[in-house]
Amino acid sequence: MSFVSIQVILDKNYEGKHVDIRGWVYRKRESKDTVFLIIRDATGTIQCTVKRGSSAWADAKKATIESSLTLSGTVRSDKRAPGEFEMSTDQLNIIGLAEVFPITKDQSKEFLRDVRHLWLRSQKMGTIMKIRSEVLKFIHEFFRKQSFIEVSPPMFISSACEGGSTLFGLKYFDKELYLTQSAQLHLEALIYSLEKVYCVAPSFRAEKSRTIRHLTEYWHVEAEQAFATIDDMMRLEENLVSHVCHSVAKQCRGELESLGVDAEKLAKINVPFKRITYDEAIKILQKKGLETNWGKDFGFDEERVLAKEFGDPVFVYAYPKQIKAFYCKTYKENPELAMSVDLIVPRIGELTTGGARVDDKDELIERLKEIGLKQEDYKWYIDIRRYGTVPHAGFGLGVERLLAWMLELESVMDTIPFPRTIRRYYP
Ligand code: 4AD
Ligand code: MG
Repeated sequence: MSFVSIQVILDKNYEGKHVDIRGWVYRKRESKDTVFLIIRDATGTIQCTVKRGSSAWADAKKATIESSLTLSGTVRSDKRAPGEFEMSTDQLNIIGLAEVFPITKDQSKEFLRDVRHLWLRSQKMGTIMKIRSEVLKFIHEFFRKQSFIEVSPPMFISSACEGGSTLFGLKYFDKELYLTQSAQLHLEALIYSLEKVYCVAPSFRAEKSRTIRHLTEYWHVEAEQAFATIDDMMRLEENLVSHVCHSVAKQCRGELESLGVDAEKLAKINVPFKRITYDEAIKILQKKGLETNWGKDFGFDEERVLAKEFGDPVFVYAYPKQIKAFYCKTYKENPELAMSVDLIVPRIGELTTGGARVDDKDELIERLKEIGLKQEDYKWYIDIRRYGTVPHAGFGLGVERLLAWMLELESVMDTIPFPRTIRRYYP
């Protein structure tokens, strides 16, 4: 038997043809002489009618919401049916009869997250997952077009990239290791042979905050480039973000519409993005009445105010070096400032962090000392600067934050199939 996808039936002229489909019962309604089943497969939904007296009748009556089945019937055009086609069913075979499905209308977000393994069947989640897959495709497409080489960094690591407070420790045989927070340090080692590298991999953060933008496990797009500057990174990042927005606007129209997202808004994300210094950002924040002093790191509140002020993505660069990581290069003319840049977007705040890296061995050793990190923990990282060091820069972007921003979702939790947070690790 060869089965036809539902979307193919809706797209092509199958009218009058006899077809076989398979899927799950999405909705069910009955009248005296007809059972109306809305059948869902990975591509769409179609209404299937079963008439009293047909050999499919008994099983159609028996089929419950989310039962899996195969159906055979004739496609008819019907303006009243969703999708404008329906199938007059003459054969129906239940594969797996479903017990009473626990998800009904108007359930709390918490409950839907408890039954995420089932809620993934909803149209909303299915649509988000399809867009997520496309976004990942566009990201890979972008880097490959720019001749970046995809690399696969390790997940077990022996020293921190982004500070000890968000490190997940784990027992590794008789040693204490960590889950990676960022592939950056390992990507840096790879530029000496490949020059332009990127990866899309999980990062782990022991993030105690419960916010709309923090997960303990998230997917991290990271790039590193030899001979590049902080300005090169800003250009690379804005081109990546606009490429993804434009591609989604063009190629995911139906999905965006079903989520109520305006494709035009994404199509209008244009480069260059605005660039302001940390100093300018502080002035704006103070003018807006926030209690922010020079030297303070920005939190969600500050970022949200900045994002609202610009309404579009905005780069903030040249931060005080003490609020940025040990690997950040500083400006020659002002060594108190780090060549570090955050991209801030409306509602979500920080979408990327990037910048230039310390490329001098002695300066790096000095920075490690200043911050109180042990030199021996970063031996190999120092080592790569001993042999033909080059200026270089890179950045990291959270896939879930990108999706939550683009799709106007309430939380990053809505963008990943099985979100992990301080309190959520089931299912
Ligand atoms: O700003 P972060 O911590 O920077 C780094 O890890 C650099 N080493 C990246 C690099 O230069 N290669 O993380 C980068 C991005 C953030 O801007 C944010 O989008 C995302 O990763 N991110 C998170 N996303 C979800 N949940 C979390 N807990 C996140 N922490 C960071
Ligand atoms: Mg950051």
